[in-house]
Amino acid sequence: MLKKFITQKARQTQKLGELLAQELTTGQVICLSGDLGAGKTTFSQGFLKGLKIKGPHTSPTFVVIKHYKSKFSIFNFQFSKKQKTKIQNIYHFDAYRVKAKDILDLGWEEIVNNKSNIVLVEWAERIKKIIPPNALWINFQGLSQNERKITFQSHP
Ligand SMILES: Nc1ncnc2c1ncn2[C@@H]1O[C@H](COP(=O)(O)OP(=O)(O)OP(=O)(O)O)[C@@H](O)[C@H]1O
Ligand SMILES: [Mg+2]
Repeated sequence: MLKKFITQKARQTQKLGELLAQELTTGQVICLSGDLGAGKTTFSQGFLKGLKIKGPHTSPTFVVIKHYKSKFSIFNFQFSKKQKTKIQNIYHFDAYRVKAKDILDLGWEEIVNNKSNIVLVEWAERIKKIIPPNALWINFQGLSQNERKITFQSHP
């Protein structure tokens, strides 16, 4: 899977995050990579809004992990049956200031292995070795002051 988008203002990047929230499957790990100010938190804010999580959705850069409770249900199509699954927790990590070991110490394995959780990780490229192989990778690249190239792919 490779999808590319260009956004021309922060609101559009947020909107893209909101749209992804509608396309979720449970147990997803969403890795956000790209430079300082590229739009990872802006995208995450839209994503959390799309999941109906009350704000403010502040950046986890300094606290490393933010946890939100969710009441959001999503529909899975399994065995041609429509099944409703509840997302219970959303974890928003930021690995900019820490190492993979620090993230593991926060209970990472348990969090990513629980299928009712959704996990967002900013600076995921810094902790690549602990990211599950089925994660979705989204790269943010600044093209100009207000333009961002956002690439969805299934690998870093
Ligand atoms: N098209 C755009 N998409 C996203 N952000 C934009 C865009 N145009 C301008 N901006 C601005 O760029 C900044 C993006 O900051 P944001 O905190 O989302 O980046 P980040 O990737 O999370 O950075 P950091 O690595 O420091 O956590 C914001 O100030 C936002 O208003
Ligand atoms: Mg950020």
